[in-house]
Amino acid sequence: MGQDSTQKSSKINYGVDAPGVIRNLFIAALAVIVVALFFPVIKIGSVIIETSGFLWSAGGMALGGLLMLVYSLSGKYKHRDRMLNLIDWNGNEQVLDIGTGKGLLMIGAAKKLTTGKSTGIDIWNAADLTGNNVEAALKNAAAEGVADKVEVLNENAMNMSFGNDHFDVILSNMCLHNIYDKQGRKTACAEIKRVLKPGGTAIIADFRNMKEYKQTFDALNLDTKLFPANYLTTFPAVGILFVKKLSL
Ligand SMILES: C[S@@+](CC[C@H](N)C(=O)[O-])C[C@H]1O[C@@H](n2cnc3c(N)ncnc32)[C@H](O)[C@@H]1O
Repeated sequence: MGQDSTQKSSKINYGVDAPGVIRNLFIAALAVIVVALFFPVIKIGSVIIETSGFLWSAGGMALGGLLMLVYSLSGKYKHRDRMLNLIDWNGNEQVLDIGTGKGLLMIGAAKKLTTGKSTGIDIWNAADLTGNNVEAALKNAAAEGVADKVEVLNENAMNMSFGNDHFDVILSNMCLHNIYDKQGRKTACAEIKRVLKPGGTAIIADFRNMKEYKQTFDALNLDTKLFPANYLTTFPAVGILFVKKLSL
């Protein structure tokens, strides 16, 4: 408790999100620059294209890749703290982090706990995060000094094994958009409602579908409040949804 959750040691590594997307943005930017430099004018039939104009799109793609990297290397710690600060912690909570990856939210929450426990679940998609696996999450937990407060499980957000009304706090950052069909995302939201205790809080952050999640939770009779993305710390801009399951 009281530890600055933005502090990092060299042993701790929370990975780079969507590494393939970042790589492709840089490759595409480079390809466009090469075309513009070596083929300043392209003729296709009667159409003449001056490729110097493409340099703007190359700059845009390179900037996008760079900002995604900045989010992974620094912005996500501030974003994590913003999510965690929405909870009024008392230390004995049962916490669930859905799509924990290398444990960013699970470990951040564990630092707030005394007698409570922080559980991280994931299906470990390699494309979503560099070095994404159970061992990496456990290694980070040990390096952050919270190994005794965490548990990491191989579970899918759409079909969790926990009993009803189990968790006081549920966290999920940049996970649910990886469920590509709308019905699957609705199922995951219904699972979140099911395993959340009455009176419990879920904090869901994502860069897309935020209105859809809000509508789904509203339809499930949960209280919701959508916080706008912070453009200074996240890219793509990540919104935060506060969800409260009313007490019985
Ligand atoms: C972009 S990473 C974010 C990881 C972590 N929440 C963070 O902020 O650093 C998305 C994570 O969601 C996980 N994931 C994707 N679909 C999932 C699902 N259906 N159930 C559980 N985890 C899932 C991926 O394996 C990946 O670890």
